[in-house]
Amino acid sequence: MERTGRFDDETRIFGASRSEHSDEDFRAKLEEAGKKFIPKGEFEPETWAKFASRIAYVQVSAGDESGFKVLYEKLSDQPDRDRVFYFSTSPSLFADMAFNLKKAGLVTPNSRVVLEKPLGHDLDSCREINGQIGEVFEENQIFRIDHYLGKETVQNLMILRFANAMFEPLWNSAHIDHVQITVGEEVGVEGRWSYYDDAGAMRDMVQNHMLQLLCLVAMEPPYVLDQDAVRDEKVKVLKALQPINDSNIDSSTVRGQYRKGAVGGKEVPGYLEEEGANTDSTTETFVAIRAELDNWRWSGVPFYLRTGKRLPKRHSEIVIQFRDVPHQIFPLAKSMTNYQANKLVLRLQPDDGIHLVLNNKNPGPGLVRLRPTALNLSFAEAFGGRSPDAYERLLLDAIDGNNTLFVRRDEQDIAWQWVDAIQDAWQNNHVTPKGYTAGTWGPSAAIALIERDGRTWNEEAGF
Ligand code: BG6
Repeated sequence: MERTGRFDDETRIFGASRSEHSDEDFRAKLEEAGKKFIPKGEFEPETWAKFASRIAYVQVSAGDESGFKVLYEKLSDQPDRDRVFYFSTSPSLFADMAFNLKKAGLVTPNSRVVLEKPLGHDLDSCREINGQIGEVFEENQIFRIDHYLGKETVQNLMILRFANAMFEPLWNSAHIDHVQITVGEEVGVEGRWSYYDDAGAMRDMVQNHMLQLLCLVAMEPPYVLDQDAVRDEKVKVLKALQPINDSNIDSSTVRGQYRKGAVGGKEVPGYLEEEGANTDSTTETFVAIRAELDNWRWSGVPFYLRTGKRLPKRHSEIVIQFRDVPHQIFPLAKSMTNYQANKLVLRLQPDDGIHLVLNNKNPGPGLVRLRPTALNLSFAEAFGGRSPDAYERLLLDAIDGNNTLFVRRDEQDIAWQWVDAIQDAWQNNHVTPKGYTAGTWGPSAAIALIERDGRTWNEEAGF
C-alpha cells in the first residue's frame, strides 16, 4: 500500500500489545518479518523507510486503562483523523478493549473497529460480545472481518453473476441440479491446537467462510452495490437455510478427524498426535454437509459443502452443476464412460479461474459422438500482475469506511443459529468424528453423503 501511494502523509500506524518494545525495536521486528513476505529483489529500502516512519508502538494491556491513555496522548495532535482499531486477540478481550478505548476518549464518530473471527463460540456468546461492542461503536463503525470476502475470486463471483447476462437466467432450480462448495486444506492445525480444538471445522470454517460462499452463490441480485443492499440479500439466504437438527442430522452431515498419513509426499501426524493435543478430543477437522434452501429460486437444489484439514491438496472451488439436456440424441465418445451435463467450476485457490464444461463433437469421421471439454480461464494468465492479498483489500476498505465486504451483526447471528442447531444435534445424537487418513478427501461417509443422491464430488480437479 505504501508502494502504491495509498497512505497520505499523515497516516500513522501503532502496534499495541502487552510486551515492552521501543518504537525502533518494533520497527526492526516488522522489517525483519516484512522482508519474508516481499519477493526477493523487490525490497525497496526507501519505501520501507517511509513506511517505517509512520510506525510506533504502545504497550497496552486489554483490561488496564493506562496503556490506552498513553495511546490517547500520542494521538492527541490529530483529534479529527479517522481511527481504525484492529482487534486481533481472543474475543474474550474485545469488550475490555472497547470500553477502555472509550474511557480514554479514543472513540470518535470517525473511529472504526475491526473484529477478527471467531466472534464467540455460539449464538449466545456472539450476541454478548456484539452487545458489548455495540455499547461503544455504532453498527456502521464495526467491521467483522471474514477474509474470504476479500479474496479476488470470491468478489468475482458477484461480477460473474451480475455483470454477465448469460448465467443469471439459468441460475435457479429449473436449470441447476446441485451446487458443491469445497475448501480443502493441506495444512493441519499449524500449532494452534487449543484454539482449533475449541472451535473445530464447523466453527472455524463453516460458520463463516463456507456460509459466505454459499450466500454469494445463492443470493438475489442486490439493487445497488452498497453495504446494506448486499448484506440484506445475504441475510435472506441465511434465513432460508433449512434447519439441520435431530431429525436429519445423520443424512445431512459428516464429521471427520484426521489420522496420521501423508500429505504432499510428507508423513504427518494424526490430529490427536499433534503438539499440545488432548488425546481424547472429539473435535472435527472435516465436515461435509448437505444443505438446502427453502426459497423460490433454490427449492430442491442441494448445496453440498465440505471442508477439512490435511486433505490431499489446497484446493477450493465452487461447482455449479447444471441439469442435463431433456433428451439426448448423441452417443458418447468411446473413451468416455458417462455423459456430463454442463458444469461451471469457479476455482478459488490456488490457480484461480473459471472452467465451463461444454459438450463438443469428438473429432473425426464416422458417427457423431459427444465429448465434454472445458473452456478454461486462468486469472493469472488473463490479468497477469500481482493479485492482492485478501487482507490488503479488506484493510483498505476498513480505512475507507466501506463495510460491504464485512459481516453484519444479523448475518452473523443467523449463521450461528444454523450452526448451533447442528452442534446440538451432534451432541444429542452422539455423532463423533469418523477417522480419515491424512492426505485423503475425508471419511468415506462424505462420499456416501453425495452418492446417496446419485451424485459425486467433483474430484477430477482441472478435468
Ligand atoms: C482461517 C481459519 O480463518 O482460514 C484457518 O482459522 C484456515 O484454520 C484459514 O486455515 C484458511 O484460509 P485460506 O485463505 O488459507 O484459505
